[in-house]
Amino acid sequence: MPVSDADEASFPREFLFGTATAAYQIEGSPGADGAGISIWDTFSHAPGNTRNGDTGDVACDHFLRVEQDLDLMARLGADAYRFSVSWPRVQPTGKGPASTDGLDFYRRLVDGLRSRGIRPVLTLYHWDLPQPLEDAGGWPQRVTASRFAEYAGIVAQALGDDVGMWITLNEPWCSAWLGYANGHHAPGARDIGRAAAATHHLLLAHGEAVSVIRSAAPAAQVGISLNPAAIRPATDHEDDLAAARRVDGNHNRLFLDPLFRGSYPADMLEHYRDRAPGFTVVRDGDMEVISAPLDFLGVNYYSPGTMAARSRIADAMAAGYCVTAAEADPILSDLGVLPVSRPDFRRTEMGWEIEPAGLTELLKRIHQEYQAIPIVITENGAAFSDYVAPDGTVRDPDRIRYLDGHLRAVLRARDAGVDVSGYFVWSLLDNFEWAHGYSKRFGLVWVDYPSGTRIPKDSFRWYSQTVRARALAPLAESRG
Ligand code: FCB
Repeated sequence: MPVSDADEASFPREFLFGTATAAYQIEGSPGADGAGISIWDTFSHAPGNTRNGDTGDVACDHFLRVEQDLDLMARLGADAYRFSVSWPRVQPTGKGPASTDGLDFYRRLVDGLRSRGIRPVLTLYHWDLPQPLEDAGGWPQRVTASRFAEYAGIVAQALGDDVGMWITLNEPWCSAWLGYANGHHAPGARDIGRAAAATHHLLLAHGEAVSVIRSAAPAAQVGISLNPAAIRPATDHEDDLAAARRVDGNHNRLFLDPLFRGSYPADMLEHYRDRAPGFTVVRDGDMEVISAPLDFLGVNYYSPGTMAARSRIADAMAAGYCVTAAEADPILSDLGVLPVSRPDFRRTEMGWEIEPAGLTELLKRIHQEYQAIPIVITENGAAFSDYVAPDGTVRDPDRIRYLDGHLRAVLRARDAGVDVSGYFVWSLLDNFEWAHGYSKRFGLVWVDYPSGTRIPKDSFRWYSQTVRARALAPLAESRG
Protein backbone atom coordinates (compact mmCIF):
# COMPACT_ATOMS: atom_id res chain seq x y z
CA MET A 1 0.00 0.00 0.00
CA PRO A 2 1.47 3.45 -0.88
CA VAL A 3 2.40 5.45 2.19
CA SER A 4 -0.07 8.23 1.33
CA ASP A 5 -3.03 5.87 1.72
CA ALA A 6 -1.90 4.37 4.99
CA ASP A 7 -3.76 5.51 8.07
CA GLU A 8 -0.49 6.62 9.62
CA ALA A 9 1.13 8.34 6.64
CA SER A 10 4.60 9.55 7.53
CA PHE A 11 7.16 12.04 6.30
CA PRO A 12 10.95 11.68 6.36
CA ARG A 13 12.95 13.36 9.10
CA GLU A 14 14.41 15.98 6.72
CA PHE A 15 11.00 17.07 5.33
CA LEU A 16 10.54 20.75 6.11
CA PHE A 17 7.26 21.70 7.78
CA GLY A 18 6.50 25.37 8.14
CA THR A 19 3.99 28.19 8.15
CA ALA A 20 3.94 31.27 5.93
CA THR A 21 2.97 34.93 6.10
CA ALA A 22 3.68 38.14 4.16
CA ALA A 23 4.76 41.56 5.39
CA TYR A 24 1.82 43.70 4.26
CA GLN A 25 -0.72 41.12 5.39
CA ILE A 26 0.46 40.96 9.01
CA GLU A 27 2.86 43.71 10.05
CA GLY A 28 0.88 46.95 10.31
CA SER A 29 2.84 50.09 11.27
CA PRO A 30 3.45 51.28 7.70
CA GLY A 31 5.82 54.21 7.69
CA ALA A 32 7.30 53.29 11.10
CA ASP A 33 10.91 54.43 11.67
CA GLY A 34 11.01 56.29 8.38
CA ALA A 35 9.74 53.45 6.17
CA GLY A 36 8.31 54.39 2.79
CA ILE A 37 4.89 53.43 1.53
CA SER A 38 4.08 50.72 -0.96
CA ILE A 39 1.57 50.30 -3.75
CA TRP A 40 -0.61 48.32 -1.33
CA ASP A 41 -0.79 51.27 1.08
CA THR A 42 -1.94 53.46 -1.77
CA PHE A 43 -4.29 50.89 -3.28
CA SER A 44 -5.98 49.85 -0.03
CA HIS A 45 -6.54 53.50 0.93
CA ALA A 46 -8.27 54.34 -2.35
CA PRO A 47 -12.05 53.91 -2.10
CA GLY A 48 -13.60 50.80 -3.59
CA ASN A 49 -10.49 48.64 -3.86
CA THR A 50 -10.84 46.44 -0.79
CA ARG A 51 -13.74 44.90 1.09
CA ASN A 52 -15.05 47.40 3.68
CA GLY A 53 -12.19 49.74 2.75
CA ASP A 54 -9.87 47.58 4.87
CA THR A 55 -6.17 48.48 4.84
CA GLY A 56 -2.96 46.97 6.26
CA ASP A 57 -2.45 49.95 8.62
CA VAL A 58 -2.77 47.74 11.69
CA ALA A 59 -3.23 44.21 10.28
CA CYS A 60 -2.08 41.71 12.95
CA ASP A 61 0.16 44.35 14.50
CA HIS A 62 2.98 41.86 14.05
CA PHE A 63 5.56 44.65 13.73
CA LEU A 64 4.96 45.48 17.39
CA ARG A 65 4.10 41.97 18.58
CA VAL A 66 6.89 40.06 16.91
CA GLU A 67 8.14 38.47 20.16
CA GLN A 68 4.68 37.14 20.98
CA ASP A 69 4.36 35.67 17.48
CA LEU A 70 7.79 34.07 17.72
CA ASP A 71 6.68 32.41 20.94
CA LEU A 72 3.57 31.12 19.21
CA MET A 73 5.76 29.59 16.51
CA ALA A 74 7.94 27.94 19.13
CA ARG A 75 4.78 26.48 20.66
CA LEU A 76 3.70 25.18 17.27
CA GLY A 77 7.00 23.38 16.82
CA ALA A 78 7.25 23.59 13.00
CA ASP A 79 10.74 23.47 11.46
CA ALA A 80 10.58 26.68 9.45
CA TYR A 81 8.84 30.02 9.00
CA ARG A 82 8.40 31.77 5.68
CA PHE A 83 8.04 35.56 5.93
CA SER A 84 8.52 38.42 3.50
CA VAL A 85 10.60 41.55 3.79
CA SER A 86 8.82 44.81 3.09
CA TRP A 87 10.88 46.57 0.41
CA PRO A 88 9.84 50.11 1.50
CA ARG A 89 10.97 49.41 5.07
CA VAL A 90 14.44 48.58 3.72
CA GLN A 91 14.57 51.19 0.95
CA PRO A 92 11.91 53.83 1.64
CA THR A 93 11.90 55.17 -1.91
CA GLY A 94 12.88 51.95 -3.66
CA LYS A 95 16.43 53.04 -4.35
CA GLY A 96 19.48 54.35 -2.57
CA PRO A 97 20.86 53.49 0.84
CA ALA A 98 19.21 51.01 3.17
CA SER A 99 17.31 52.06 6.27
CA THR A 100 19.10 50.59 9.28
CA ASP A 101 15.89 50.60 11.30
CA GLY A 102 14.04 48.68 8.60
CA LEU A 103 16.74 46.04 8.37
CA ASP A 104 16.90 45.83 12.17
CA PHE A 105 13.33 44.61 12.35
CA TYR A 106 14.11 41.66 10.09
CA ARG A 107 17.41 41.05 11.90
CA ARG A 108 15.44 40.71 15.16
CA LEU A 109 12.94 38.40 13.49
CA VAL A 110 15.67 36.18 12.02
CA ASP A 111 17.59 36.07 15.31
CA GLY A 112 14.38 35.30 17.18
CA LEU A 113 13.63 32.40 14.84
CA ARG A 114 17.12 30.96 15.03
CA SER A 115 17.29 31.18 18.79
CA ARG A 116 14.07 29.12 18.89
CA GLY A 117 15.44 26.55 16.44
CA ILE A 118 13.16 27.65 13.56
CA ARG A 119 14.62 27.98 10.07
CA PRO A 120 13.94 31.35 8.45
CA VAL A 121 12.74 31.26 4.83
CA LEU A 122 12.85 34.76 3.39
CA THR A 123 10.72 36.08 0.53
CA LEU A 124 12.08 39.30 -0.94
CA TYR A 125 8.95 40.44 -2.73
CA HIS A 126 5.41 39.68 -1.65
CA TRP A 127 3.76 42.48 -3.65
CA ASP A 128 4.70 45.64 -1.75
CA LEU A 129 6.50 47.68 -4.42
CA PRO A 130 7.72 51.06 -3.09
CA GLN A 131 5.24 53.65 -4.37
CA PRO A 132 7.91 55.89 -5.97
CA LEU A 133 8.89 52.99 -8.25
CA GLU A 134 5.28 52.61 -9.34
CA ASP A 135 5.12 56.36 -9.95
CA ALA A 136 8.07 55.88 -12.28
CA GLY A 137 6.15 53.22 -14.24
CA GLY A 138 6.34 50.13 -11.99
CA TRP A 139 6.96 46.60 -13.24
CA PRO A 140 6.16 47.38 -16.89
CA GLN A 141 9.42 49.40 -16.81
CA ARG A 142 12.75 47.59 -17.13
CA VAL A 143 14.48 49.77 -14.54
CA THR A 144 12.32 48.20 -11.80
CA ALA A 145 14.15 44.90 -12.32
CA SER A 146 17.53 46.57 -11.65
CA ARG A 147 16.12 48.31 -8.61
CA PHE A 148 14.95 44.95 -7.29
CA ALA A 149 18.41 43.43 -7.79
CA GLU A 150 19.90 46.32 -5.81
CA TYR A 151 17.41 45.76 -2.99
CA ALA A 152 18.07 41.99 -3.06
CA GLY A 153 21.77 42.74 -2.64
CA ILE A 154 21.13 44.91 0.42
CA VAL A 155 19.02 42.26 2.15
CA ALA A 156 21.37 39.41 1.17
CA GLN A 157 24.38 41.34 2.51
CA ALA A 158 22.58 41.97 5.78
CA LEU A 159 20.98 38.55 6.38
CA GLY A 160 22.75 36.17 4.00
CA ASP A 161 24.75 34.44 6.72
CA ASP A 162 21.69 33.59 8.80
CA VAL A 163 18.98 32.83 6.27
CA GLY A 164 19.41 29.53 4.44
CA MET A 165 16.45 29.71 2.03
CA TRP A 166 15.65 32.65 -0.23
CA ILE A 167 12.59 33.20 -2.38
CA THR A 168 12.95 36.04 -4.85
CA LEU A 169 9.32 36.67 -5.81
CA ASN A 170 5.97 35.47 -4.55
CA GLU A 171 3.53 34.62 -7.34
CA PRO A 172 4.72 36.97 -10.08
CA TRP A 173 1.56 36.04 -12.05
CA CYS A 174 -0.46 37.95 -9.43
CA SER A 175 1.87 40.95 -9.46
CA ALA A 176 1.69 41.19 -13.24
CA TRP A 177 -1.83 40.09 -14.12
CA LEU A 178 -3.94 41.00 -11.06
CA GLY A 179 -1.88 44.18 -10.67
CA TYR A 180 -1.73 45.43 -14.27
CA ALA A 181 -4.38 43.54 -16.29
CA ASN A 182 -7.58 43.17 -14.26
CA GLY A 183 -6.88 45.70 -11.54
CA HIS A 184 -7.91 43.45 -8.65
CA HIS A 185 -4.58 44.08 -6.91
CA ALA A 186 -2.27 47.06 -6.55
CA PRO A 187 -1.53 49.16 -8.50
CA GLY A 188 -4.97 48.52 -10.01
CA ALA A 189 -4.13 48.95 -13.72
CA ARG A 190 -6.19 47.38 -16.52
CA ASP A 191 -3.88 47.04 -19.49
CA ILE A 192 -2.93 43.62 -20.86
CA GLY A 193 0.11 44.90 -22.76
CA ARG A 194 1.55 46.34 -19.56
CA ALA A 195 0.83 43.08 -17.71
CA ALA A 196 2.86 41.19 -20.32
CA ALA A 197 5.77 43.64 -19.97
CA ALA A 198 5.49 43.36 -16.17
CA THR A 199 5.70 39.56 -16.49
CA HIS A 200 9.02 39.86 -18.28
CA HIS A 201 10.49 42.44 -15.92
CA LEU A 202 9.44 40.47 -12.85
CA LEU A 203 11.16 37.39 -14.25
CA LEU A 204 14.21 39.45 -15.14
CA ALA A 205 14.23 40.89 -11.62
CA HIS A 206 14.13 37.35 -10.28
CA GLY A 207 17.05 36.25 -12.49
CA GLU A 208 19.18 39.26 -11.58
CA ALA A 209 18.44 38.75 -7.90
CA VAL A 210 19.46 35.08 -8.05
CA SER A 211 23.04 35.96 -8.99
CA VAL A 212 23.16 38.83 -6.47
CA ILE A 213 22.01 36.52 -3.64
CA ARG A 214 24.42 33.81 -4.71
CA SER A 215 27.38 36.17 -4.52
CA ALA A 216 26.38 37.63 -1.14
CA ALA A 217 25.35 34.30 0.39
CA PRO A 218 27.06 31.44 -1.45
CA ALA A 219 25.60 28.76 0.82
CA ALA A 220 22.01 29.95 0.41
CA GLN A 221 19.37 27.93 -1.39
CA VAL A 222 17.56 30.17 -3.86
CA GLY A 223 14.15 29.70 -5.45
CA ILE A 224 10.96 31.44 -6.55
CA SER A 225 7.34 30.83 -5.50
CA LEU A 226 4.85 30.47 -8.35
CA ASN A 227 1.13 29.79 -8.20
CA PRO A 228 0.72 27.22 -10.94
CA ALA A 229 -2.66 25.51 -11.18
CA ALA A 230 -3.99 22.29 -12.65
CA ILE A 231 -6.20 23.63 -15.45
CA ARG A 232 -8.80 21.29 -16.94
CA PRO A 233 -11.11 21.65 -19.95
CA ALA A 234 -14.85 21.57 -19.17
CA THR A 235 -15.44 18.93 -21.87
CA ASP A 236 -13.24 17.16 -24.38
CA HIS A 237 -14.53 19.35 -27.22
CA GLU A 238 -11.58 20.79 -29.10
CA ASP A 239 -12.61 24.39 -28.34
CA ASP A 240 -12.63 23.69 -24.59
CA LEU A 241 -9.28 21.91 -24.86
CA ALA A 242 -7.86 24.95 -26.65
CA ALA A 243 -9.41 27.29 -24.06
CA ALA A 244 -7.81 25.35 -21.19
CA ARG A 245 -4.50 25.36 -23.05
CA ARG A 246 -4.62 29.17 -23.37
CA VAL A 247 -5.25 29.61 -19.65
CA ASP A 248 -2.48 27.13 -18.92
CA GLY A 249 -0.27 29.29 -21.16
CA ASN A 250 -1.06 32.52 -19.36
CA HIS A 251 -1.09 31.11 -15.84
CA ASN A 252 1.54 28.36 -15.89
CA ARG A 253 3.74 28.15 -18.99
CA LEU A 254 4.37 31.92 -19.19
CA PHE A 255 6.41 31.48 -15.99
CA LEU A 256 7.59 27.86 -15.99
CA ASP A 257 8.92 27.92 -19.58
CA PRO A 258 11.23 30.94 -19.21
CA LEU A 259 12.49 29.77 -15.81
CA PHE A 260 13.17 26.16 -16.80
CA ARG A 261 13.50 26.23 -20.59
CA GLY A 262 14.83 29.73 -21.19
CA SER A 263 12.05 30.75 -23.61
CA TYR A 264 8.48 32.04 -23.62
CA PRO A 265 5.83 29.67 -25.00
CA ALA A 266 5.33 30.39 -28.72
CA ASP A 267 1.51 30.36 -28.49
CA MET A 268 1.58 33.04 -25.77
CA LEU A 269 4.06 35.25 -27.66
CA GLU A 270 1.69 35.00 -30.60
CA HIS A 271 -1.38 35.71 -28.46
CA TYR A 272 0.07 38.85 -26.89
CA ARG A 273 1.90 40.05 -30.04
CA ASP A 274 -0.32 43.02 -30.73
CA ARG A 275 -0.63 44.17 -27.12
CA ALA A 276 2.01 46.88 -26.77
CA PRO A 277 4.46 46.89 -25.20
CA GLY A 278 3.89 43.19 -24.43
CA PHE A 279 6.88 40.92 -24.93
CA THR A 280 8.66 43.40 -27.24
CA VAL A 281 10.50 44.42 -24.06
CA VAL A 282 12.57 41.19 -24.14
CA ARG A 283 16.24 41.92 -24.95
CA ASP A 284 19.15 39.73 -25.99
CA GLY A 285 20.58 37.89 -23.02
CA ASP A 286 17.49 38.29 -20.81
CA MET A 287 16.40 34.67 -21.13
CA GLU A 288 19.78 33.40 -19.93
CA VAL A 289 19.46 35.60 -16.85
CA ILE A 290 15.90 34.42 -16.19
CA SER A 291 16.73 30.72 -16.56
CA ALA A 292 19.66 30.73 -14.12
CA PRO A 293 19.62 27.40 -12.25
CA LEU A 294 17.62 27.33 -9.00
CA ASP A 295 17.89 25.16 -5.90
CA PHE A 296 14.16 24.68 -5.51
CA LEU A 297 10.81 25.70 -6.95
CA GLY A 298 8.21 27.05 -4.54
CA VAL A 299 4.66 26.00 -5.43
CA ASN A 300 1.69 27.79 -3.89
CA TYR A 301 -1.40 25.65 -4.40
CA TYR A 302 -5.00 26.20 -3.35
CA SER A 303 -7.40 24.94 -6.00
CA PRO A 304 -7.65 23.60 -9.57
CA GLY A 305 -9.50 25.36 -12.39
CA THR A 306 -11.88 24.22 -15.12
CA MET A 307 -12.23 26.24 -18.33
CA ALA A 308 -14.78 26.43 -21.11
CA ALA A 309 -14.49 28.30 -24.40
CA ARG A 310 -16.76 31.36 -24.34
CA SER A 311 -18.54 30.13 -27.44
CA ARG A 312 -19.40 26.86 -25.64
CA ILE A 313 -20.79 28.14 -22.41
CA ALA A 314 -24.29 26.76 -23.08
CA ASP A 315 -22.77 23.31 -23.69
CA ALA A 316 -20.78 23.51 -20.47
CA MET A 317 -23.92 24.41 -18.54
CA ALA A 318 -25.79 21.54 -20.19
CA ALA A 319 -22.95 19.31 -18.96
CA GLY A 320 -23.69 20.41 -15.38
CA TYR A 321 -21.29 23.31 -14.83
CA CYS A 322 -21.98 26.79 -13.55
CA VAL A 323 -19.99 29.90 -14.45
CA THR A 324 -17.71 31.04 -11.65
CA ALA A 325 -16.19 34.39 -12.62
CA ALA A 326 -17.48 37.71 -13.79
CA GLU A 327 -17.86 37.96 -17.55
CA ALA A 328 -15.92 41.18 -17.35
CA ASP A 329 -12.54 39.76 -16.31
CA PRO A 330 -10.22 41.24 -18.94
CA ILE A 331 -7.59 38.48 -18.71
CA LEU A 332 -10.05 35.69 -19.36
CA SER A 333 -12.21 37.49 -21.87
CA ASP A 334 -9.04 38.30 -23.82
CA LEU A 335 -8.29 34.57 -23.80
CA GLY A 336 -11.85 33.77 -24.91
CA VAL A 337 -12.49 31.67 -21.83
CA LEU A 338 -14.92 31.35 -18.94
CA PRO A 339 -14.04 29.45 -15.77
CA VAL A 340 -16.72 26.95 -14.77
CA SER A 341 -17.36 24.77 -11.79
CA ARG A 342 -19.55 21.91 -10.60
CA PRO A 343 -22.19 23.44 -8.31
CA ASP A 344 -21.94 20.50 -5.89
CA PHE A 345 -18.16 20.75 -5.38
CA ARG A 346 -16.97 21.43 -1.86
CA ARG A 347 -15.46 24.91 -1.56
CA THR A 348 -13.64 27.11 0.89
CA GLU A 349 -14.89 30.55 1.97
CA MET A 350 -12.97 31.99 -0.99
CA GLY A 351 -15.28 29.96 -3.25
CA TRP A 352 -12.27 27.85 -4.27
CA GLU A 353 -12.93 24.19 -5.05
CA ILE A 354 -11.31 21.73 -2.67
CA GLU A 355 -9.45 19.11 -4.63
CA PRO A 356 -6.20 17.70 -3.23
CA ALA A 357 -5.78 15.43 -6.28
CA GLY A 358 -5.16 18.62 -8.29
CA LEU A 359 -1.99 19.17 -6.27
CA THR A 360 -0.65 15.67 -6.97
CA GLU A 361 -1.46 16.10 -10.67
CA LEU A 362 0.27 19.48 -10.81
CA LEU A 363 3.40 18.28 -9.02
CA LYS A 364 3.70 15.28 -11.33
CA ARG A 365 3.30 17.47 -14.37
CA ILE A 366 6.00 19.94 -13.30
CA HIS A 367 8.32 17.05 -12.54
CA GLN A 368 7.68 15.38 -15.89
CA GLU A 369 7.51 18.38 -18.21
CA TYR A 370 10.10 20.63 -16.60
CA GLN A 371 13.13 19.83 -14.49
CA ALA A 372 13.31 17.31 -11.69
CA ILE A 373 14.02 20.24 -9.36
CA PRO A 374 13.20 19.90 -5.64
CA ILE A 375 9.77 21.40 -4.97
CA VAL A 376 8.67 23.07 -1.77
CA ILE A 377 4.96 23.76 -1.23
CA THR A 378 5.48 27.31 -0.06
CA GLU A 379 1.73 27.93 0.51
CA ASN A 380 -1.33 25.77 0.98
CA GLY A 381 -4.30 26.43 3.20
CA ALA A 382 -7.93 27.48 3.32
CA ALA A 383 -10.29 30.18 4.56
CA PHE A 384 -13.38 28.99 6.39
CA SER A 385 -16.04 30.82 8.37
CA ASP A 386 -14.35 30.36 11.74
CA TYR A 387 -15.75 31.84 14.92
CA VAL A 388 -14.83 31.96 18.59
CA ALA A 389 -17.17 29.67 20.52
CA PRO A 390 -18.63 30.77 23.88
CA ASP A 391 -15.97 28.65 25.61
CA GLY A 392 -13.26 30.72 23.89
CA THR A 393 -12.07 28.03 21.47
CA VAL A 394 -12.00 28.07 17.66
CA ARG A 395 -12.97 24.72 16.19
CA ASP A 396 -12.00 24.38 12.52
CA PRO A 397 -12.45 20.77 11.40
CA ASP A 398 -12.83 21.83 7.75
CA ARG A 399 -9.34 23.36 7.76
CA ILE A 400 -7.87 20.24 9.38
CA ARG A 401 -9.53 18.09 6.73
CA TYR A 402 -8.24 20.38 3.97
CA LEU A 403 -4.65 20.32 5.26
CA ASP A 404 -4.70 16.57 5.87
CA GLY A 405 -5.97 15.96 2.34
CA HIS A 406 -3.30 18.14 0.76
CA LEU A 407 -0.49 16.66 2.83
CA ARG A 408 -1.62 13.23 1.63
CA ALA A 409 -1.58 14.62 -1.92
CA VAL A 410 2.05 15.63 -1.33
CA LEU A 411 2.85 12.10 -0.18
CA ARG A 412 1.19 10.70 -3.31
CA ALA A 413 3.41 12.92 -5.46
CA ARG A 414 6.44 11.70 -3.50
CA ASP A 415 5.29 8.10 -4.03
CA ALA A 416 5.27 8.89 -7.75
CA GLY A 417 8.88 10.09 -7.60
CA VAL A 418 8.46 13.87 -7.28
CA ASP A 419 11.03 15.42 -4.98
CA VAL A 420 8.75 17.46 -2.69
CA SER A 421 10.90 18.48 0.25
CA GLY A 422 8.74 20.85 2.28
CA TYR A 423 5.25 22.17 3.01
CA PHE A 424 4.21 25.54 4.45
CA VAL A 425 0.69 26.23 5.70
CA TRP A 426 -0.81 29.51 4.63
CA SER A 427 -1.05 31.02 7.15
CA LEU A 428 0.27 31.21 10.69
CA LEU A 429 -2.19 34.01 11.51
CA ASP A 430 -5.51 35.23 10.18
CA ASN A 431 -4.53 38.31 8.22
CA PHE A 432 -5.28 40.98 5.59
CA GLU A 433 -6.39 38.95 2.58
CA TRP A 434 -5.65 41.62 -0.06
CA ALA A 435 -8.81 42.85 -1.83
CA HIS A 436 -10.93 40.74 0.56
CA GLY A 437 -9.63 42.71 3.51
CA TYR A 438 -10.12 40.97 6.86
CA SER A 439 -13.17 39.02 5.71
CA LYS A 440 -11.28 35.79 4.98
CA ARG A 441 -9.49 33.88 7.71
CA PHE A 442 -6.68 31.50 6.66
CA GLY A 443 -4.83 31.28 9.99
CA LEU A 444 -3.93 28.42 12.28
CA VAL A 445 -4.29 31.20 14.82
CA TRP A 446 -7.39 33.38 15.18
CA VAL A 447 -6.64 37.10 15.39
CA ASP A 448 -9.13 39.33 17.16
CA TYR A 449 -8.44 42.47 15.12
CA PRO A 450 -9.69 45.15 17.51
CA SER A 451 -7.55 43.88 20.40
CA GLY A 452 -4.82 41.93 18.60
CA THR A 453 -5.46 38.90 20.81
CA ARG A 454 -4.31 35.59 19.29
CA ILE A 455 -6.24 32.33 19.84
CA PRO A 456 -4.70 29.14 18.44
CA LYS A 457 -7.40 27.21 16.57
CA ASP A 458 -7.87 23.43 16.68
CA SER A 459 -5.88 23.26 13.43
CA PHE A 460 -2.89 24.78 15.26
CA ARG A 461 -2.90 21.86 17.71
CA TRP A 462 -3.47 19.37 14.89
CA TYR A 463 -0.56 20.80 12.84
CA SER A 464 1.63 20.86 15.93
CA GLN A 465 1.01 17.15 16.52
CA THR A 466 1.53 16.38 12.84
CA VAL A 467 4.88 18.16 12.56
CA ARG A 468 6.13 16.66 15.82
CA ALA A 469 5.06 13.13 14.83
CA ARG A 470 6.11 13.73 11.21
CA ALA A 471 3.01 11.72 10.39
CA LEU A 472 -0.68 12.16 9.66
CA ALA A 473 -2.91 10.41 12.12
CA PRO A 474 -6.16 8.88 10.82
CA LEU A 475 -8.87 11.52 10.82
CA ALA A 476 -12.07 10.89 12.71
CA GLU A 477 -14.15 12.28 9.85
CA SER A 478 -14.02 11.54 6.14
CA ARG A 479 -11.06 13.05 4.35
CA GLY A 480 -11.02 15.95 1.89
C1 FCB B 1 -1.77 33.65 -2.27
C2 FCB B 1 -0.92 34.77 -1.70
C3 FCB B 1 -1.01 34.91 -0.20
C4 FCB B 1 -2.42 34.69 0.30
C5 FCB B 1 -3.01 33.43 -0.26
C6 FCB B 1 -4.39 33.11 0.21
O1 FCB B 1 -2.05 33.91 -3.60
O2 FCB B 1 0.43 34.56 -2.04
O3 FCB B 1 -0.50 36.16 0.14
O4 FCB B 1 -3.18 35.80 0.06
O5 FCB B 1 -3.03 33.49 -1.66
